[in-house]
Amino acid sequence: MDLEFAVNGERFKVDSIDPSTTVLDFLRFNTPFKSVKLACGEGGCGACLVVLARYDPELDQVKECSINSCLTLLCSINGCSITTSEGLGNKKKGFHPIHKRFAGFHASQCGFCTPGMCISLYSALSNADSSNNNSSNEFTVSEAEKSVSGNLCRCTGYRPIVDACKSFASDVDIEDLGFNSFWKKGESKEVMLKNLPPYNPKEHLVTFPEFLKKKKKKKKKKLHNGLDHSRYRWTTPCSVADLHNITEAANSLGSLKLVVGNTGTGYYKDEERFDRYIDISQIPEMSMMIIKKGEEGIEIGAAVTISNAIAALKKEESKSSYIFKKMAAHMEKIGNHAIRNSGSIGGNLVMAQSRKFPSDITTLLLAVDASVYMLNGSKKTEKVKLHEFLELPSVLDSKRVLLKVEIPSCTTSGDDETELLFESYRAAPRSIGNALPYLNAAFFALVSRRQEPSRRGVTVDKCILAFGSYGGDHSIRAREVESFLTGKLLSYSVLYEAVGLLKGIIVPGKDTPHFEYRKSLAVGYLFEFFNPLIESGHYSNSHVNETAKSLLPFLSSSQQVLESNEYQPVGEAVIKVGAALQASGEAVFVDDIPTLPNCLHGAFVYSTERLTKIKSINFRENVIPTGVFAVLTSKDIPKQGQNIGSKTVFGAGPLFADELTQFAGQRIALVVADTQKHADMAAKLAVVEYDTKNIEEEPILTVEDAVKRCSFFEVHPMIYPEPVGDVLKGMEEAERKIISAELRLGSQYFFYMEPQTALALPDEDDCVKVYSSSQAPEYVHSVIATCLGIQEHNVRVITRRVGGGFGGKAVKSMPVATACALGAYKLQRPVKMYMNRRTDMVMAGGRHPMKITYDVGFRADGKVTALEFIMLIDAGLEPDISAIMPRNIMGPLRKYDWGALSFDIKVCKTNSPSRTAMRAPGEVQGSYIAESIIENVATSLQMDVDAVRKINLHSYESLRKFYTHISGDPDEYTLTLLWDKLEISSKFKERAEMVKEFNVCNVWRKRGISRVPIIHQVMQRPTPGKVSILSDGSVVVEVGGIELGQGLWTKVQQMVAYGLGLVKCQGSDKLLERVRVVQSDTLGMIQGGFTAGSTTSESSCEAVRLCCVILVERLKPTMDQMMMEKSGSVTWTMLIQQAYGQSINLSASTLYTPEYASMEYLNYGVGVSEVEVDLVTGKTEILRSDIIYDSGKSLNPAVDLGQIEGAFVQGIGFFMMEEYTTDEKGLVVQQGTWDYKIPTVDTIPKHFNVEIVNSGHHKDRVLSSKASGEPPMLMAASVHCATRSAIREARKQSLSWNCHDGNRDESGTDFELPVPATMPVVKSLCGLYSVERYLQGKILG
Ligand SMILES: Cc1cc2nc3c(=O)[nH]c(=O)nc-3n(C[C@H](O)[C@H](O)[C@H](O)COP(=O)(O)OP(=O)(O)OC[C@H]3O[C@@H](n4cnc5c(N)ncnc54)[C@H](O)[C@@H]3O)c2cc1C
Ligand code: FES
Ligand code: FES
Repeated sequence: MDLEFAVNGERFKVDSIDPSTTVLDFLRFNTPFKSVKLACGEGGCGACLVVLARYDPELDQVKECSINSCLTLLCSINGCSITTSEGLGNKKKGFHPIHKRFAGFHASQCGFCTPGMCISLYSALSNADSSNNNSSNEFTVSEAEKSVSGNLCRCTGYRPIVDACKSFASDVDIEDLGFNSFWKKGESKEVMLKNLPPYNPKEHLVTFPEFLKKKKKKKKKKLHNGLDHSRYRWTTPCSVADLHNITEAANSLGSLKLVVGNTGTGYYKDEERFDRYIDISQIPEMSMMIIKKGEEGIEIGAAVTISNAIAALKKEESKSSYIFKKMAAHMEKIGNHAIRNSGSIGGNLVMAQSRKFPSDITTLLLAVDASVYMLNGSKKTEKVKLHEFLELPSVLDSKRVLLKVEIPSCTTSGDDETELLFESYRAAPRSIGNALPYLNAAFFALVSRRQEPSRRGVTVDKCILAFGSYGGDHSIRAREVESFLTGKLLSYSVLYEAVGLLKGIIVPGKDTPHFEYRKSLAVGYLFEFFNPLIESGHYSNSHVNETAKSLLPFLSSSQQVLESNEYQPVGEAVIKVGAALQASGEAVFVDDIPTLPNCLHGAFVYSTERLTKIKSINFRENVIPTGVFAVLTSKDIPKQGQNIGSKTVFGAGPLFADELTQFAGQRIALVVADTQKHADMAAKLAVVEYDTKNIEEEPILTVEDAVKRCSFFEVHPMIYPEPVGDVLKGMEEAERKIISAELRLGSQYFFYMEPQTALALPDEDDCVKVYSSSQAPEYVHSVIATCLGIQEHNVRVITRRVGGGFGGKAVKSMPVATACALGAYKLQRPVKMYMNRRTDMVMAGGRHPMKITYDVGFRADGKVTALEFIMLIDAGLEPDISAIMPRNIMGPLRKYDWGALSFDIKVCKTNSPSRTAMRAPGEVQGSYIAESIIENVATSLQMDVDAVRKINLHSYESLRKFYTHISGDPDEYTLTLLWDKLEISSKFKERAEMVKEFNVCNVWRKRGISRVPIIHQVMQRPTPGKVSILSDGSVVVEVGGIELGQGLWTKVQQMVAYGLGLVKCQGSDKLLERVRVVQSDTLGMIQGGFTAGSTTSESSCEAVRLCCVILVERLKPTMDQMMMEKSGSVTWTMLIQQAYGQSINLSASTLYTPEYASMEYLNYGVGVSEVEVDLVTGKTEILRSDIIYDSGKSLNPAVDLGQIEGAFVQGIGFFMMEEYTTDEKGLVVQQGTWDYKIPTVDTIPKHFNVEIVNSGHHKDRVLSSKASGEPPMLMAASVHCATRSAIREARKQSLSWNCHDGNRDESGTDFELPVPATMPVVKSLCGLYSVERYLQGKILG
């Protein structure tokens, strides 16, 4: 049979194909549909989602679900229909209501995640609709929130995405939906509903193609997907006997791989190539769930998907249903919707058994004493207990196939005294999934209540205690603890002893991160399970029962946004340019540009050593991997060129390491191959031989080493910040001091959804054209010319849109484009590089880590009198932009009146990847450092920290002292006003009281609330712009700034419409739709500079405004003349036609150069956050955040709101979640979505209120506007400070417990909370041994 399927209704037939080809590979390379994006290739981000529809001819039924196209193998979708986002709707046939609502709710910024988001929502809607036909299941607000829980977005902060999703929910109160373009505040519900793009399932759900239905019906009898074996190397057995025959003949068939969903490759990226794939998903015995009659339990076929298992377990209504429902609730947190839709139960168990995968399913099944059936070599099926199965030698690579799982029925004796308990737990960085747990557990117990006076209480008759994912080989039962507890009357001392035993059993492998934390989780969960039985005699899961809380609590939000019409359409909340195109996936990113057939693909080989000679570069076993065309190193750089890969005004960095590699992660070579997959595989197979002989110099590993060796980057005095006041005097005035306090801050990775990408095309006469996903095309251009040794006019760099940058696509985009250009120049063929996430993370460098040691002097009332510090910044090896760090850090750090301030900031040169600008580079750290100091002052004085903050806020006079000329006029200093305003709107004082009460009443949860002010200094830079009016009156605009998702094009478009509109003819007020901003082309528009520092949008706007002034002036005489002739009725089109006739120059360009005196200015905001910390797991939940931000007169409030919310959530990532660390060699540890956790919809504030203040006229600003891109990120420190406050409460409580032994935590209220405050960090500060301390306290009385 041929491989045939449909994509967006279109028939595709594939004659033969490599069976390892994924659906994504096929869609992106063989169809015009590019909405599926490759952002991780691991199943962890949702950018590649598609809807898969299968038709069952027996039942005449179509089943749809979302799947990860990056993992699903093409051969497995034979006979199916695939729908991508452009299949839902598109520019030509009309956008789908989902696209329209995403656009109208301003839910797409860079747009790279948006098609995947739309598919997630569509899939949830279509599921609800199909179940709705059978039952009363409807698409609810809760379903809406959950629908996108598996998708990552790095730009929006999720709130608008959730609102777009909720707008489809049947139970939504439309007034709860956030700021959008469909209605204005205060409009009636009827108007709101009327304006929402209508959605009608009958019309908007995609139908299954008839041609496939017909084909399937014809083959009714032959249900299985029997592809021609020889052409596809894909076999689909349709019975266990068939399967057995195949595995028997394994030797003659070559290497075999059994597959169901193939999701396992998201974790274990297959390096091995298999001769044949055996798809076991269509063997009826293996794909059924059988609920046995009577009380015999349940059988789950190994190929049953996790989603189907969940659905069946939820439906089950036997006596064991209580347990099954809890299991289902736990399983709903496995991976994400798409993974559960494809991933099978058997695949999960085999991964756990053979490859130590940290499985949830094995833990759940162990707790219900499950067994598995296996097909062994002798055609016999073998039944073994799950724990025995887990202990067997690897079942992979053998002829053993897992057939099914059996769960026995679990019931009580029926007497009233006996109770059956089941609970499962999971401590993961994200509460509703998409994150592997640090530990999971499932407990089963039969308990009986005794009333006899001598044995009053609860006795454990039987228990099974299963733990997994803690870093052991696989899930295990804590049998010793089980036997110890069995028959015991529960008491504090029994539980204390059980905990002691458990700690000897849960022993993570020696390299497991967070070793002690994981052990403490096991203890915590055991305590959670049994303690309520001791304290109340009843089981209660009030405070840690995660599975019971499987429903996402509703998110709520409010936005106060002011539109202004003074400069119409500037100031209006215009929808982002191309938002609907982004949603449908038609917006073109660099990787979407169709490639020529002779295009080659590149992948970097990077060093894993630092300061070591490179002896040779070969491939494993000296075999050149498939498809490899060339390996380029520094030796391939043309003679007339230079080994340069990046440059800034502070210096350059090499493209490749020469003979010596300076740091782990340094580029050594570029492997060029026929496909990206081959290039990536070959780069992995590269073997670099290093040689440390004759290298006397030791690498500089830390900032302390750098100080010892005086290894610093020079910071020019012009940009080094000035001290303020007399610190000696300030210290003398101090009544108290903190001396030599130390603080360290780590790095952060950009996690732009679109990885680094470039495409280079050789051209005639030594020219090269490069498409680069860059924030700094001008510099990319110049670096390429220098590297190739050609004149700059031989290079052209084009950038249309960038799928998120956050600073990471400025300097770090240069080597990617330069390497491609080198390849194209040398090989005279197009060369493209789409960096895989792992390499991207290794090379990115990220945010600057730093260490601060400070002395601070203050009075007894909390007023600081002097601050003095030494700061060591780890800049890595290349200059990059690190010299600006001292200046950037000092901007927001001066937000408080420190009395006097002096510092010594060193930018250290170390043997690590160079650090670069990441959103609010230095500013976010500077602002946080100030908060940390204030926190410590308050702790030292035992004062309320909010009062200490307030007393140190600047007056206008002190502001001038600290910020000199940048501070602006007195009425521009709005911080104190915002501080007071937010106190009222957030009910700060009342809530602070409620937090206190909560903390008194709750032992295992503590809350904290914190208010944080920010001052953020920004600077405008010279920016070019060009506006040209075409003969039909349409307008084309070029600007230096790049559209990164921040809405730059939209603001520019509005500004041009406003600027040209001043000509005041008929129709000149409706020019918005006639203006198109086009891609940046470094030959078309020079001096584009960097798009960075939050001000490029306003500078680009000012540049085009100036162009419009010129054009309006040129048009004016014609206009006046026509007005006279036509007595007032001159349309825009007529005017332009006339101007063309008169040969008036209708193209104007400028380089906007801001005035020196006013190019820098201050931005203000305040954030209040309230959090709740779980003392057992260390989990922090952000209950509410309120932020207020002064954006001047916003150029586009919708865009600015998106920037503010997105920046705040990215800040939550920095402060609370994102660990980006290096090993002892300096190689990045986190290399993908598995271990790098950015915020998701379930980690944002549950209530998120944003107010944008329009602070009126600012004479030196572009139409009175202010920046919004970076400053709001700083307010996320409020979440961190609130967490610190909650931890302080936990530590106070812990100190009050009466206990005696070595389980002491270092309690006390004086502590530093590291950044990021991840679960293990929070737990360790709350007390790793708090449970033991509590029990001891109880025992001692
Ligand atoms: C992003 C992501 C997140 C995840 N999160 C979690 C999580 O939180 N908790 C959790 O427990 N799991 C998690 N998983 C694991 C997931 O459950 C498994 O990947 C999935 O169940 C595997 O099923 P599959 O059908 O795709 O297996 P495949 O990928 O098709 O197969 C996996 C392996 O098992 C072999 N195999 C499959 N079936 C059999 C069989 N019947 N007999 C013998 N060998 C067989 C295959 O040859 C292959 O080697 C996650 C996975 C991903 C990709
Ligand atoms: S690319 Fe497939 S899930 Fe990320
Ligand atoms: S809009 Fe979601 S990643 Fe950019």
